[in-house]
Amino acid sequence: MPFPPLFPFFLSVVLLPALLQADITYPYHTLQQKQLLNLRQRSSAAGSGAAGTLPASKRYEGSSDLVDLRYHMGPVLSLPIRLYLIWYGRWTPALQLPIRDFLLSLSDASVAAPSAAQWWSTIALYADQTGANVSLSLSIAAEASDPAASRGYSLSRLSVQHLIADALAASSLPVDHRCGVYLVLTAPEIAMQDFCRAVCGFHYFTFPSLVGHTLPYAWVGHSGAQCPELCAYPFAVPGYMARGGVGAMRPPNGDVGTDGMVSVVAHELAELATNPLVNAWYAGGDPTAPTEIADLCEGIYGTGGGGGYTGQVSKDGQGRSYNINGRGGRRFLVQWVWSPLLKACVGPNAMD
Ligand SMILES: *[C@@H]1O[C@H](CO)[C@@H](O)[C@H](O)[C@H]1NC(C)=O
Repeated sequence: MPFPPLFPFFLSVVLLPALLQADITYPYHTLQQKQLLNLRQRSSAAGSGAAGTLPASKRYEGSSDLVDLRYHMGPVLSLPIRLYLIWYGRWTPALQLPIRDFLLSLSDASVAAPSAAQWWSTIALYADQTGANVSLSLSIAAEASDPAASRGYSLSRLSVQHLIADALAASSLPVDHRCGVYLVLTAPEIAMQDFCRAVCGFHYFTFPSLVGHTLPYAWVGHSGAQCPELCAYPFAVPGYMARGGVGAMRPPNGDVGTDGMVSVVAHELAELATNPLVNAWYAGGDPTAPTEIADLCEGIYGTGGGGGYTGQVSKDGQGRSYNINGRGGRRFLVQWVWSPLLKACVGPNAMD
């Protein structure tokens, strides 16, 4: 076989919320488990919202001496990032708009705090060995769609690269070596290998043998019809959490799957930007299973978050939860990311 069937494509999996539960074991690598252990200890130490009374070393969400995030000499996405979207399957404008607005909000500095652009500014703290930081500029350069799902309704991880190759061959999207990031977004009816079982999204780069070029890409699926309790957390919660009294939050844009997808897109973009060729920023010694900057903060959305608690987030007049503002009055709920300066998970809605 040309590739090990699974390994390289497991990069940057979005963890399922089950991993944040103390009583669930799940095969994942040691560092992550240590980190989760730390989150659990931290959350029990914090009790209910007593963050201000914690010792200084425990003050930040997810902060830990066990996290060994390191730079491995490769490039980050330091030029203005041009996003190329591939909408695969039946998408409606109502489902697409929040996602598009989220992407456009990431570099919109005119939005009131806490903003999506402030959220991205933590990611721009990462630099490569040339001293170039991740770019603060992101734009949607072009979009392609395949409503007829020409490669079928059940995709393999590898077929994501074929979708990109198809779009390039049809000239629906250009080859952009300098600044391009290709985002493959699959509609509710599209199944993906390991979706809902092990992954909610992943990122990697294309192979010249399949696509003709090495281009960074990510895939994220709409989980609304397939596994919202796994991939659209916390807008849907797994049964064991519901039984423990954890309620689902109302999605800020009114669609569980789409709002859940926004947070997974955020997760994958943060990791793509800081580890596009899987040789820049990650923790752990094994490049086939790196722990990247968003993996470290899975499940944390606000102050006090960790151990199955999202942390403090806001609610709008209709009881819908959010933690950042976007353009045109939109709001989103996205997970926090690891700051290389604070060595902790941070987000613009932090209370301290
Ligand atoms: C660029 O990265 C360096 C190193 O992490 C950081 O100190 C600096 O603040 C970053 N610059 C911007 C504009 O974020």
